[in-house]
Amino acid sequence: MDLYIKLGLLLVMSIAVDASDVSDYIPQIAQNITTNITDRTFVLVQPNCIFNQYTTTNVWVVIALNKSFSNLKDSDFSTPVPYSSFKNGLYDYYHTLLVSGGKYPCSTGDSASNKVILIGSETCKDNTFCNGVLSNNQTYRVKFILLNSTGIFDKTQWSSEIILQKDKSLLGLNVLPSGRSGGMIVLTSILSVLLAILLVSVIAALALGSRDICWKRSVYNEKSVSSKMDFMTHSTYRSRYDHMYLVS
Ligand SMILES: *[C@@H]1O[C@H](CO)[C@@H](O)[C@H](O)[C@H]1NC(C)=O
Ligand SMILES: *[C@@H]1O[C@H](CO)[C@@H](O)[C@H](O)[C@H]1NC(C)=O
Ligand SMILES: *[C@@H]1O[C@H](CO)[C@@H](O)[C@H](O)[C@H]1NC(C)=O
Repeated sequence: MDLYIKLGLLLVMSIAVDASDVSDYIPQIAQNITTNITDRTFVLVQPNCIFNQYTTTNVWVVIALNKSFSNLKDSDFSTPVPYSSFKNGLYDYYHTLLVSGGKYPCSTGDSASNKVILIGSETCKDNTFCNGVLSNNQTYRVKFILLNSTGIFDKTQWSSEIILQKDKSLLGLNVLPSGRSGGMIVLTSILSVLLAILLVSVIAALALGSRDICWKRSVYNEKSVSSKMDFMTHSTYRSRYDHMYLVS
């Protein structure tokens, strides 16, 4: 009985700890990923095990411009704002990545604890709550909010400033040619091999030229020698043959 009471207390305590976790939680940029911030995207640590008492509640990611996040009130987030309205400049924030709280599970497994969220991964075509690419001109803040039919009823803290990489042209130089250079390497390899084969052929032709011609001539001779051949001098025949061999 004593054990059950203790277990019960432990359960209540852990729920109490979890309940306070949401409002205490500060969204974090993933540390173990080199591309955690690019000129268009950033990578967040998945906030696992903080919404576990809200397994069926809608959890949104809200992304806001740093310059205006401090003016935003909870009531502003009650109606989800699609990415397109943010992109148009109608709003300084938008909602994306709607999931139920249960999608951020508690797990001791490494795979779950290492999971991350890539913000800015989509090209958005319509008026959806898509996870659209960001602008490298901007500084952002992000938070997770819980919405039900009456509006926002829980939320995390804002993240600290997320400054995207500014040097887009440099990034372009680093990223794009690496894709191309792969193709270039393959092409160069193929060309090198072809060149090597050609060189070997040429050397072989030069080295074995005379022997080859003798052999060819004897074959030619066996196949009923034409009358034309008869009045060709040996040197004429040879120079013509070498020339043809090298060209072909
Ligand atoms: C991004 O990850 C690197 C390590 O890969 C880390 O040093 C850096 O602090 C991270 N950036 C942010 C903003 O957390
Ligand atoms: C972020 O916004 C605050 C004001 O809300 C401002 O003081 C700060 O300089 C901004 N940071 C950047 C990197 O723009
Ligand atoms: C970046 O910001 C500068 C000035 O702050 C502006 O002139 C330019 O149009 C912006 N570029 C984009 C792609 O938003």
